[in-house]
Amino acid sequence: MDRSLISKEVIPFLLMFGTLILATIVGDALLHYFDLVWIGRYLGIPGTVLILLSLFYSMRKRKMVSFGKPKTLLKLHETLAWLGALMILVHAGIHVYAILPWLALVAMLVNVLSGMTGKFLLDRSRRFLAEKKAAYANQGLPEDEVEKRLFWDATTFELMKKWRAVHLPITLAFAVLGLTHIFSIFLFWQWK
Ligand code: HEM
Repeated sequence: MDRSLISKEVIPFLLMFGTLILATIVGDALLHYFDLVWIGRYLGIPGTVLILLSLFYSMRKRKMVSFGKPKTLLKLHETLAWLGALMILVHAGIHVYAILPWLALVAMLVNVLSGMTGKFLLDRSRRFLAEKKAAYANQGLPEDEVEKRLFWDATTFELMKKWRAVHLPITLAFAVLGLTHIFSIFLFWQWK
């Protein structure tokens, strides 16, 4: 592993996921300390709303909506999904007693980890693309060097494609489990 891999990918990845877990523990502790545990029960709602709002990026990308800059919407996707996941983690940390919510939570965590992996793969693809442009601009480069860079470009974009093939089914699994959990809560309310 070279140094730039560690500083550009491994450390930011661990920080992004680590702060999510740390913020969950702190949030949970604060709710308990101030005797506000009931808030946790409702945090699932804004958490879900934020995650749904974050999906505007996907709608923009798939041309279902036409406003917003894709780059900004992707940043928004990452931030809102992170915040929404935090709310759901705090929500789950307080009263989880059945199997279904646990499964939904695990699916969400896998989804978040996969999203973060995608973010760094995308950043890497961008860096390689920039290198490619520089290689074109810099006519002095030997042919085989340009070839090598083009090869890496292709590989990273290929990687991104493969990542999407994993990320989308994970999102689907999370959506099904999450919706089933929400649906079962509504059923429970009706029959009470
Ligand atoms: C509950 C959590 C999340 C859900 C449900 C979710 C869902 C999705 C979906 C459905 C896509 C596909 C977009 C499309 O091709 O239409 C996507 C892409 C992406 N997500 Fe997430 N995501 C979540 C969390 C995250 C997090 C935490 C990050 C990063 C910090 C992230 C980063 C990305 C990136 C970089 C892409 C790829 C953009 C692209 O290829 O166009 N996601 N996400």
